Amino acid sequence: MITELGGKRVFPIGIGTWRMGGDVLGARTAKDNDDIKALKFAIKHKVNVIDTAEIYGNGHAEELVAEALKGQERELMFIISKVWTTNLKRDRLIRAAEESVRRLGAKYMDLYLIHWPNPLINIKETIGAMEELVDRGLIRNIGLSNFGVDDVKKAIEATKKYEIAANQISYSLMKKDAEEYLIPYCARNKIKIIAYTPLAKGNVVKMKEVIEMAEKYKKEPVQIALNYLMKKSLPIPKASSIEHLKEILGSVGWGLSDEDYKKLSEIS
Ligand SMILES: NC(=O)c1ccc[n+]([C@@H]2O[C@H](COP(=O)([O-])OP(=O)(O)OC[C@H]3O[C@@H](n4cnc5c(N)ncnc54)[C@H](OP(=O)(O)O)[C@@H]3O)[C@@H](O)[C@H]2O)c1
Repeated sequence: MITELGGKRVFPIGIGTWRMGGDVLGARTAKDNDDIKALKFAIKHKVNVIDTAEIYGNGHAEELVAEALKGQERELMFIISKVWTTNLKRDRLIRAAEESVRRLGAKYMDLYLIHWPNPLINIKETIGAMEELVDRGLIRNIGLSNFGVDDVKKAIEATKKYEIAANQISYSLMKKDAEEYLIPYCARNKIKIIAYTPLAKGNVVKMKEVIEMAEKYKKEPVQIALNYLMKKSLPIPKASSIEHLKEILGSVGWGLSDEDYKKLSEIS
């Protein structure tokens, strides 16, 4: 099962790296080996989309991704990183991208996201800098994260040469509000939805409806939750545990019936 993202064929599930290599307070290296092992395990099992950000572990998550990418054919991978909201003016954004590419040990990022909109900085300046990065070959695609309909519209209007490839949003069976306006709006504008926190931090496995559906399909609850999201998005769960990753990988290659999909979509 393959989907398309930013002009590349990718596995329909990516892997997130928030809380690998630290958090917003800074880098932590104690679990590096486990995290690298988890990323390598995912890559070995066909996952080629990896999501990270300059803010994760103050850049250390990007360094872990670089470790995991060693020995991989770069062109077959799809690496996403994000520029933090205080770096959205031109010069700072260009520097931030150069730093991310350096930490990633790569020549380019496949997709570079504006982590959050910043109303204090003109989106035209930010998008203009993003387009410069595409021209320089430092990034292949421009994307957004945490942008609502109005912000997406402004970002589209700010583009001159390239299209917005994706919007990464919080989307899970516990948080489906985007299905009403944002997801259809992005679909109409050919903007791929990337679902972050798709497991609601692991809490989806406790939902009664998900557990019941898992029993019916002889699947794990996580697999029900991710299979549901794959219909309208590319989910990027985070897992440092190999057992968790194995479950995640089992979300691919089968499908919920239309009727059961509808049932899950009606959970409030
Ligand atoms: N753009 C943004 O603003 C934004 C915000 C948040 C997140 N993100 C991205 O989205 C990624 C995913 O979101 P997230 O990390 O917030 O949350 P998540 O993927 O919903 O949940 C991660 C948690 O679920 C656990 N888990 C994984 N597989 C499981 C399984 N099979 N059964 C039970 N629990 C399981 C993980 O445990 P273990 O780690 O112990 O395996 C981890 O504690 C992030 O890593 C990041 O890359 C982006």
